Amino acid sequence: MIHVEFITPSSLNWNTLGSQIYNIEVSIFGEESLSEEMMRDDINDPEVTLVLLKKDESIVGFTYALPESGGVARIVDTVIIKERQSKGLISMLMTCLETELRKKGYEYVTRDAMVDNGYADKITRNYSSRIIETRDFIGEWGKQRYFKIRI
Ligand SMILES: CC(C)(COP(=O)(O)OP(=O)(O)OC[C@H]1O[C@@H](n2cnc3c(N)ncnc32)[C@H](O)[C@@H]1OP(=O)(O)O)[C@@H](O)C(=O)NCCC(=O)NCCS
Repeated sequence: MIHVEFITPSSLNWNTLGSQIYNIEVSIFGEESLSEEMMRDDINDPEVTLVLLKKDESIVGFTYALPESGGVARIVDTVIIKERQSKGLISMLMTCLETELRKKGYEYVTRDAMVDNGYADKITRNYSSRIIETRDFIGEWGKQRYFKIRI
């Protein structure tokens, strides 16, 4: 069964989840993946908000956010394995992330999304009036769209 799981922050998270999470990152982004060191530090950060998408006991996707400034969290990464993409599963993953962020007192998220794979347009459609700031830019990973969204 597909379900989402919020992971309580712990300095041991990378030991238990890191290899599965990093393998998914590399399977999708290849050479453009976040570095393993950066992901390890993020996933072990006591202030991380990490949500997994699981099929039974296997991780099939994940997303995480870190504090940016008062009341604002930055979504660093969102990935779903190829076999599970385009089935609308992003909705349950992000709803869970946003619920957990609200519980912690956050009111806004920021994030960058890729333009060329259509994800930035999906975010624009999905969040519509909750988007309070957006701009396109050319970043390290090509064409990107920045968003600040009320959660
Ligand atoms: C991009 C990715 C996370 C999208 O997840 P997905 O489950 O495949 O998304 P789907 O295409 O099935 O569903 C998208 C639909 O859900 C909707 N949606 C609902 N909640 C959403 C949310 N919180 N965020 C974005 N879209 C959401 C969208 O509006 C879209 O509907 P539309 O096409 O009618 O506008 C996933 O395909 C993926 O991991 N891709 C590779 C990695 C990647 O590109 N990550 C993002 C880097 S910026």
